[in-house]
Parts: sequence; structure tokens; C-alpha cells
Amino acid sequence: MFRTAGGSVTHIITRRLRIEALRREHAEPLFAALADPSIYAYIPEDPPESADALAGRYARLAEGAPAGSGQVWLNWAVRLRGSPAYIGTLQATVLRDRTASIAYVLAPLHRGHGYATEACRWLLGHLAIERRVVEFQATTDVRNEASWRLLERLRFVRMGEELARCHGQAVTDFRYRRDPRPGEPRHSTRTDAGGAPGSAAPMAKSPPVGQTTGRPADGSSPALRAAR
Ligand SMILES: CC(C)(COP(=O)(O)OP(=O)(O)OC[C@H]1O[C@@H](n2cnc3c(N)ncnc32)[C@H](O)[C@@H]1OP(=O)(O)O)[C@@H](O)C(=O)NCCC(=O)NCCS
Repeated sequence: MFRTAGGSVTHIITRRLRIEALRREHAEPLFAALADPSIYAYIPEDPPESADALAGRYARLAEGAPAGSGQVWLNWAVRLRGSPAYIGTLQATVLRDRTASIAYVLAPLHRGHGYATEACRWLLGHLAIERRVVEFQATTDVRNEASWRLLERLRFVRMGEELARCHGQAVTDFRYRRDPRPGEPRHSTRTDAGGAPGSAAPMAKSPPVGQTTGRPADGSSPALRAAR
């Protein structure tokens, strides 16, 4: 893991990927990867209009969540190691109660190689260790098989369904959650804001209102929505 002098993570290297903290400069190389309309079939966002528009959005995301929101926004650009090609993005929103929602997008050309699995595995570990996240959440359109298969491969557990809207249509989402260490007996370290780690606060029963990952009711992840 590579950090600035101030301690922020600038980029990390996994087996096949280089994952970089998202900056304005990523708009140009990512625009080509993210312009394909098919990417947005099941996510309530539209393709970026231009590299400039994307640059403006990335600049706002790089500033982080609004002061006082109690959230942490983390956005990453994903590229192949040893290649100039950027292949997608990763996103996490961490709430005050240390639950986190995640979202991911890969360019069609680079799907089916396990890159999303590799990137998300890193992300989950990073959030658990660096941000002390105690519960991961994600929602995905029931028709988005690649996405729910990815979540299940990552050992997310389907919790139910919920109604949502996507491109003006009523749709159904699967709601998923995952413990930081799935499969182990649950010893919650979740705390309320300001609580001490290790206290016995109960796990969340449902995602915080309006903070479902990737697909909040109004159409985008909290971070992306606020950055528009
Ligand atoms: C979801 C997405 C990131 C998956 O990327 P990927 O690199 O193909 O995923 P991986 O190769 O790591 O594979 C993960 C799982 O998805 C499955 N999968 C991949 N593409 C698939 C497809 N077109 N149809 C069905 N399953 C598919 C893989 O087989 C694997 O499941 P398995 O372990 O049961 O075999 C990619 O399809 C995408 O960017 N979609 C558009 C954006 C999107 O919808 N994001 C989700 C927002 S909630």
C-alpha cells in the first residue's frame, strides 16, 4: 500500500490490478472505459456526457463527503498492472456507525476475468482494516446477474428484496450484507458514533435510510449523487 506523507492511501497493487485513489485526472482515461451505455442497464446512472463532465464529478468526489455528514466517501480507479488501461471504478460509503456500502463498475471489455472479484476482495479487506467497518451492504437489480453473482462469490448474503427506481422504471433490487469475516461466529465490534470499539451494540437490521449502495432510491450511490 502506498501513502502520502499525510497517511492517505494513494494506490495499492493486487495480483493483477493497480487501484488508485480517484482524482480529477482519471476522467480522461476512464471516460472511454465508462462511456458504453450497456454499463448502465441496471444502475440508475447515465453514461458520462464528456470527459470534462466526468472530471468535474471526480474532483468533487476527491474532496470527500460534506463536512458534518458523518460519512466517508472513498472512490478508486482500477487499472491493469503494467498497462495504461483503466478498466473501472470502485466506490465505498462508510457511515458513522461503521457500516459501509460498496459499488463497482467494470468496462465490458474487461469483464469475466475475475477482476471485479479481485478488486472487491481488496476493497473489503481495506475497509475492515483501515476503516474498521463492521458490516458491508450492497444492493443490486435482481436482473443484474453478474453483480449478484459477484456479491455471492464475495460471500455476501442475500437479505431480501426492495423496490427501487432505475431509468424511470420501478424495479426490484436484491439487498445483500456481509460481515467483515464471513463464516466466523459473529462477535460484533460495531459501535454507535463515538462508542468504544468492542462494545456490544447490535448489528444493523437494515441499511441506513437512503444509503443503500450503488442504488439509492434516487438513482446513484450517495457519493455520486452528491457530486452531481
Ligand atoms: C458486475 C461486474 C462488475 C462484474 O464484473 P466481472 O469482472 O465480470 O466479474 P468477475 O469476473 O469477477 O465475476 C464475478 C461473478 O460474476 C459472474 N459473471 C460475470 N459476468 C457475468 C454475466 N454476464 N452473466 C452472469 N454472470 C456473470 C462470474 O461468473 C462470477 O460468478 P461465479 O463466481 O458464480 O462464476 C460487471 O458486470 C459490471 O461492471 N457491470 C455493470 C455495472 C454494474 O452493474 N455494477 C453493479 C452496480 S450494483
